[in-house]
Amino acid sequence: MPDHPKQPVIVLLTSHWVTMAGVALVTLAGFSWLFALPANIRGNVSNPYIGLLTFIAIPVVFFAGLALIPIGIALGRRKAAEALSTPIDRRAAWRRAGMFFAIMTMANLVIGSQLTYRAVEHMETTQFCGQSCHVMKPEFTAHLLPPHQQIACATCHIVPGATGWIRAKMAGTNQLLAVTFNTFPRPIESGLESNRLVSSADTCEQCHARGKVIGPRLRMHSSFKDDETNTRTETVLMMLVGGGNTGGIHGAHMGPGVRIRYAASDKKRQTIPWVEYSNGGATRTYLADGTTPDAARALPTFEMQCVDCHNRAAHSFELAEHAVDHAMATARISATLPFVKKTGVELLKATYSSEDDAAQKIPARLNTFYQQKYGDIWAKRSNDVQLAGQALLAIYRSNVFPDLKVTWGTYPNNVGHIDDPGCFRCHDGGHSTADKKVITQDCSTCHQMLATDEADPAILKTLGLGEAPK
Ligand code: HEC
Ligand code: HEC
Ligand code: HEC
Ligand code: HEC
Ligand code: HEC
Repeated sequence: MPDHPKQPVIVLLTSHWVTMAGVALVTLAGFSWLFALPANIRGNVSNPYIGLLTFIAIPVVFFAGLALIPIGIALGRRKAAEALSTPIDRRAAWRRAGMFFAIMTMANLVIGSQLTYRAVEHMETTQFCGQSCHVMKPEFTAHLLPPHQQIACATCHIVPGATGWIRAKMAGTNQLLAVTFNTFPRPIESGLESNRLVSSADTCEQCHARGKVIGPRLRMHSSFKDDETNTRTETVLMMLVGGGNTGGIHGAHMGPGVRIRYAASDKKRQTIPWVEYSNGGATRTYLADGTTPDAARALPTFEMQCVDCHNRAAHSFELAEHAVDHAMATARISATLPFVKKTGVELLKATYSSEDDAAQKIPARLNTFYQQKYGDIWAKRSNDVQLAGQALLAIYRSNVFPDLKVTWGTYPNNVGHIDDPGCFRCHDGGHSTADKKVITQDCSTCHQMLATDEADPAILKTLGLGEAPK
């Protein structure tokens, strides 16, 4: 007759090393969770890596441990059964073990569901999307600027609902693999390029009504010339935004019943040889000069939506000239430092091996420029020069990311037509129907030009604005 069991069945059942490893992991995760409880209750932490640890690593360890426990029990079952003498012994022992596991499971469900909830929630935060991984640095940095800095990445990048969530997690897993094995493209493809954008009906239009009528909007751009005195000029435009049934820029493309489809011959959608316009009644097909209908038919087509124009709504990068103009117009760089526009742009456009290299050289070279060429200015105004150096560096840091091959102009902006093709991808005067109707290039259909690069435009005085920064 075998001996009576000397140990409770629970000990026998859990004595397999796999189970013990599982229990150790669950305990470790449980204690870490207790330590991180304040952060878990708040739901956020300031450091992205602590965020990864608290909200992602702890649950992973916890659930891995939970999974190991039953596996170990199954593996160690026979040994436990052999150690029990009679069927009656066995039944009583199993009942006690069952109770123990039921209670433990309840406790683990409570902790586990809370962990899962926080993990899922954390994966939707701007911190997780933008800062856990250095690859997102350009977009994260640009997203810190208005107008959308308060809006979580997930609001625009994940389709609301369960399928969207699953799709986003699958794409996220692929991206994680690409980063781990270093196979991701540099620069990262733009949203339009990778064709991963969520329809504006599910994103932009949650907050902006498509049919809203927007009156004319005054836009002012100050520019500074390359001369010694950085001569300032103003461009003043009245943008005819419109909307709904009133026509204008929004009404023409997004008004009731209007549908515009286009075909692009490059992935960034900068070359558009075919455009189809319909408004319920009329349908008009425009072909770019030199394109045959057959060639156009072979290309992928897209339906025009908000991001075909506002593609950089959340991640707008600037060109060096505009960024310096803007910094000078808003007094972050003193416009009375001789040649500061020209020198600043040159320093920004030079090549640096890394951000640290730029951080060292940009301010230092600006200092040297004034020390060598304008000793008197340097003697009196070295503080202004140093502030200008820091402002230039800040511009560099928000636009150039050497390790990700993002530099001036990497991501074209489609609202406009001066720096990138933008509106003129279609409105270039070269897109026409068979009966010679052309997509207009008439300047005044989109904006009234109130002043173009004028030194002291009368219109600003009329409006009572003087030399107001925009
Ligand atoms: C207001 C909506 C919105 C928000 C919020 C937003 N994005 Fe985007 N994002 C876009 C659009 C639109 C594009 C497509 C840009 C293009 O094709 O030119 C894009 C493109 C991207 C790209 C592709 C590369 C590129 O620059 O085009 C990445 C990566 C990206 N976003 C990451 C993020 C991250 C990280 C956050 C949060 C920090 C975020 N986005 C928040 C709308 C948004
Ligand atoms: C969660 C709400 C929300 C979503 C989603 C959203 N926006 Fe906005 N957007 C805002 C708010 C709020 C402002 C005004 C911010 C301000 O005035 O400071 C704004 C401002 C703007 C502006 C004016 C910019 C300026 O310089 O004044 C544009 C253009 C714009 N949004 C386009 C878009 C596009 C395109 C999308 C989709 C890719 C989008 N928005 C998604 C809330 C949103
Ligand atoms: C054909 C291109 C085009 C499309 C499509 C388009 N917009 Fe615009 N939108 C513009 C232009 C151009 C302006 C004026 C830009 C400027 O000077 O700031 C503008 C201005 C705006 C503004 C700022 C208005 C203000 O009060 O200053 C918002 C917000 C906006 N658009 C949102 C949207 C949304 C949302 C959609 C999609 C439903 C959309 N736009 C579709 C071209 C477009
Ligand atoms: C994909 C091609 C495409 C792009 C890009 C595009 N448009 Fe258009 N636009 C059209 C078409 C097509 C029409 C309507 C032509 C027609 O009536 O048959 C139109 C009409 C207009 C009209 C009305 C013209 C009129 O005669 O009343 C305005 C204003 C306008 N667009 C402004 C813009 C602005 C501003 C941008 C850039 C921010 C832009 N468009 C970008 C295709 C485009
Ligand atoms: C299809 C619409 C459209 C047409 C046609 C058009 N523009 Fe524009 N233009 C825009 C938009 C959009 C912007 C950007 C507005 C902004 O900066 O807020 C712009 C900006 C400008 C700017 C200011 C650039 C800056 O950064 O200072 C100038 C200058 C200009 N346009 C000149 C012209 C001239 C000249 C014509 C006629 C040959 C013309 N545009 C035709 C839509 C158009």
